[in-house]
Amino acid sequence: MRKPIIAGNWKMNKNPEETQEFLEAIKGKLPAADQVESVIAAPAIDLNALVWFSKDSDLKVAAENCYFEDEGAFTGETSPKALSEMGVDYVVIGHSERRGYFHETDEDINKKAKAIFRNNMLPIICCGESLETREAGKQTDWVVAQIKAALAGLTAEEVSKSVIAYEPIWAIGTGKTASADQAQEMCHAIREAVKGLYNEQTAENVRIQYGGSVKPANVKELMAKPDIDGGLVGGASMVPDSFLALVNYQN
Ligand code: 13P
Repeated sequence: MRKPIIAGNWKMNKNPEETQEFLEAIKGKLPAADQVESVIAAPAIDLNALVWFSKDSDLKVAAENCYFEDEGAFTGETSPKALSEMGVDYVVIGHSERRGYFHETDEDINKKAKAIFRNNMLPIICCGESLETREAGKQTDWVVAQIKAALAGLTAEEVSKSVIAYEPIWAIGTGKTASADQAQEMCHAIREAVKGLYNEQTAENVRIQYGGSVKPANVKELMAKPDIDGGLVGGASMVPDSFLALVNYQN
């Protein structure tokens, strides 16, 4: 059985003080880690507070990005080695905002995935099509190609432990959620692609999230779909009560 994984993605929001306030508000209210994995992906400057909180709580911590080299003369980048040493569990890679605004390529994302495993963390690998691609009916080919490129050279064991987040760009921050059926259809296609690239067991193990205007009001319907194992949530993850409603969706 795949364990559900609900992750907030704060994007470029909250300072360390605001992070502390958020953590005070969710203290003792997260679901047990063996039921649902609760994750927050936060800006690098907030990770220290999250890691300290995670030490005696059920929260897991994600960085929103990292570089693909472990250390060196790369001004302004974040070292995956340092993230791992500080106690970060996951790194989000390939978010459409990074692909779009910062011109990250499939090749960069693949190198980052390898760097994350090399440093004993796990990737949350984002993929998703634009509205234009969907309207042209090419969304499945597009997303499968992104996944193929991101996973290139990873072992079946690594892919089994990976998280893939399907986030159609047209549903991000727009209030326009993909229907649960549209989300299920793509998450299923991703799982089939993993089966083709690796094997049945790997496809059964890999966890696939849906992201794009997920909120307390629609999380249950999405999570009821057989190939949707979690959510990657922007806006609705930033308010403590809303985040708690999302991670406690089973109650
Ligand atoms: P919203 O939930 O705000 O649509 O953002 C989705 C997202 O990009 C999460 O990574």
